[in-house]
Amino acid sequence: MDTDFRLFPDQASTVAGQIDALYFFLIALSTFFTILIAGLIVYFAIKYRRGSSADRQQGDRSTLAMELSWIFIPMVISMVIFIWGTNLYFETARPPANAMEVKVVGKQWMWKFKHPQGNREINMLHVPVGQPVKLHMISEDVIHSMFIPAFRVKADVLPGNLMRNSYTQLWFEATKAGEYHLFCAEYCGTNHSGMVGSVIVMEPADYEQWLSGGTRGDPPEVAGRKLFEQLRCDSCHLGGGESSRGPALEGVFGSNVPLASGESVLADRDYLRRSIINPAADVVAGYQNTSMPSFQGQISEEGLIDLVAYIESLSKK
Ligand code: CUA
Repeated sequence: MDTDFRLFPDQASTVAGQIDALYFFLIALSTFFTILIAGLIVYFAIKYRRGSSADRQQGDRSTLAMELSWIFIPMVISMVIFIWGTNLYFETARPPANAMEVKVVGKQWMWKFKHPQGNREINMLHVPVGQPVKLHMISEDVIHSMFIPAFRVKADVLPGNLMRNSYTQLWFEATKAGEYHLFCAEYCGTNHSGMVGSVIVMEPADYEQWLSGGTRGDPPEVAGRKLFEQLRCDSCHLGGGESSRGPALEGVFGSNVPLASGESVLADRDYLRRSIINPAADVVAGYQNTSMPSFQGQISEEGLIDLVAYIESLSKK
């Protein structure tokens, strides 16, 4: 039997303490009103029981003070919850600019991770302590959910065909070295309960050592460039300018792309991914989608992440 059962997981990230504080505040508030209401029910039930000599005269039912108090007290309490919760939500939803990005692909029933240096791992995620880490995530099949209780973070991981935008993210900054559970928190089939793993938080020097000790693949943008050349994307998409058959991709990422339909669209990662698997979805103004084949089903989600990372890197120079 597991003897170190605890009601609460470790607090091992920068937001964990704040999330717990809000949680305990809500629990305390609910407990206070539950006890108050239950107590009054019992008190009045006894006081006005049949045969008691309590005063049953109806007093003044509505006073201004009473009206104001039950308008303003609940309003103040709701606003405290709203402002506190919203602030915390934005803090957990917005990764810091210096976050190290790990690419994540979920599938039935495992988690695949790729570090910026090219190291890959499955169901294990090594991260340095004191460094914001952003997980850039997508699923190969059904909806999964990345949940790391000790960090108090959780986000759904969506399959690419579900909607227009499929990439999701979450971020954390671990504060304590150690090993923490990682779960899939969305029922995803027979072995959902086995889709678990560990986050291993290491001192920065140990992390560096771990990085150099593992089998290192290509960093995402390098793997992406190789795939780009292998798929012959470069024959239409690079450096051609006006004469090119497809739009040049330098500087595209992050820009507003005018479309043939007259609309324009922000060239984010979801747009780039969509344009690879379904080139007809958003045809760029001045081009006709006659020659680019769909790569739907031909490139893995890891491959798409790499390709997008490469196209993104073309805008960073
Ligand atoms: Cu993946 Cu549950």
